[in-house]
Amino acid sequence: MHKEAKFWDKIAEKYSKQPIADEAAYQKKLKITQGYFTPETELLELGCGTGSTAIIHAPFVRHIHAVDISPNMIEIAKGKVDHEGIKNITFEVAACDEVNIPDASVDVVMGMSILHLLEDKETVIAKVYQMLKPGGVFISSTVCLTGMMKLLKLIIPIGAFFGKTPQTVRFFNSKELENSLTDAGFDIDYQWQPGKKGMAVFIVAKKPG
Ligand SMILES: C[S@@+](CC[C@H](N)C(=O)[O-])C[C@H]1O[C@@H](n2cnc3c(N)ncnc32)[C@H](O)[C@@H]1O
Repeated sequence: MHKEAKFWDKIAEKYSKQPIADEAAYQKKLKITQGYFTPETELLELGCGTGSTAIIHAPFVRHIHAVDISPNMIEIAKGKVDHEGIKNITFEVAACDEVNIPDASVDVVMGMSILHLLEDKETVIAKVYQMLKPGGVFISSTVCLTGMMKLLKLIIPIGAFFGKTPQTVRFFNSKELENSLTDAGFDIDYQWQPGKKGMAVFIVAKKPG
């Protein structure tokens, strides 16, 4: 099992019951994301958690391949789609950098609250670029842990030692994330910072067509 899976497995049940922190921002992100869909869209979701967002998007696309590192998250997600009779989502236990998808085969890749949890986001961003068709988009929403959050840099390793936080949490701001995306070849199609300025960023990055 991947070293990060242990933490997420442990909290999966509790995570599935947590209410959305900012419902208005969540709804806006869903709406903007759906603006990039057609009924033919092939969607890949990285770090899908318990599948809630994939389930909402399922009626608007052809197929969703949703991956997560945590077997418990995926089990809960599978239970929800079975219960709702949804047939166009395939779930897979996999790390973002291990996903095996042919180059230029997906229209949209989604990564919600995942990029700051990756050991090496640049490798994953490069992989996303490869998997997308020309003109495809990578839609991400990311917590930006910088500035006054620096105290967390000390707290997180202690939390990880006691199994209370993930082991990998990366610190970067929205500009640094934007640079990582453009360095990989993406154009920024849309960018929005919901909530308190600078704490998170929602970006739609487009692979030139
Ligand atoms: C903060 S949760 C976000 C879940 C979901 N995207 C959402 O917005 O509710 C992060 C998720 O990413 C998964 N995860 C963490 N590291 C991962 C990795 N390297 N590859 C794939 N999934 C990962 C965790 O298991 C967890 O389900």
